[in-house]
Amino acid sequence: MTTFGEKQSRGYDQRATRLLGGLYSLVATEVGAAAKPDASVLDVGTGPGKLLAQLRSRRSDLRLHGVDLSPHMIDLAAANLTRSPVELSVGDVCALPYPDDSFDLVVSSLSMHEWPDLDQAGAELARVLRPGGTVAIYDFRFLRMAAARVALHHWFEPATVRRETVRPPRHPIGLYVRFTARAA
Ligand SMILES: C[S@@+](CC[C@H](N)C(=O)[O-])C[C@H]1O[C@@H](n2cnc3c(N)ncnc32)[C@H](O)[C@@H]1O
Repeated sequence: MTTFGEKQSRGYDQRATRLLGGLYSLVATEVGAAAKPDASVLDVGTGPGKLLAQLRSRRSDLRLHGVDLSPHMIDLAAANLTRSPVELSVGDVCALPYPDDSFDLVVSSLSMHEWPDLDQAGAELARVLRPGGTVAIYDFRFLRMAAARVALHHWFEPATVRRETVRPPRHPIGLYVRFTARAA
């Protein structure tokens, strides 16, 4: 199922930087600090690629990949990332188009609340991560928190699963949450 059609994707692309720039900046700073040199990083549900652009501007050494269910979003990401070597694919988080052990770090922003099956998504995120790799999922607080926690405990090292409230600078309240976990 494609959640974002052509018109909706274009509208999101136009609004995203203005409304979500603070979040992208925070996530890119955190992921940029966590990723090892030359790490392979996947952004799941990348949308128009705004986070990947911010990551590229901070860490030119990273091997960046983005995947999204919507081909329209992937077209927009390709247009937004023409100057950055980033590999983009259309695909579902529940059936990721990558071999096992492909990435050192998987990140996702504001996409998890749309994933149809969080347990299957967790299985796929764990499968494409190398042993010891990290997942960092940012999303709106309050949406599907319990199911996300269960899925991460199921597929990742349970003792490493963390859930923290996230408040980008100048945001009046902590509207977002960050889940992190390490792959076994
Ligand atoms: C609200 S947008 C967020 C886009 C981007 N990550 C950002 O922060 O601007 C949600 C994105 O998740 C994608 N998405 C929804 N379900 C998905 C799935 N099952 N697999 C991969 N991507 C999905 C949508 O197509 C959309 O691009």
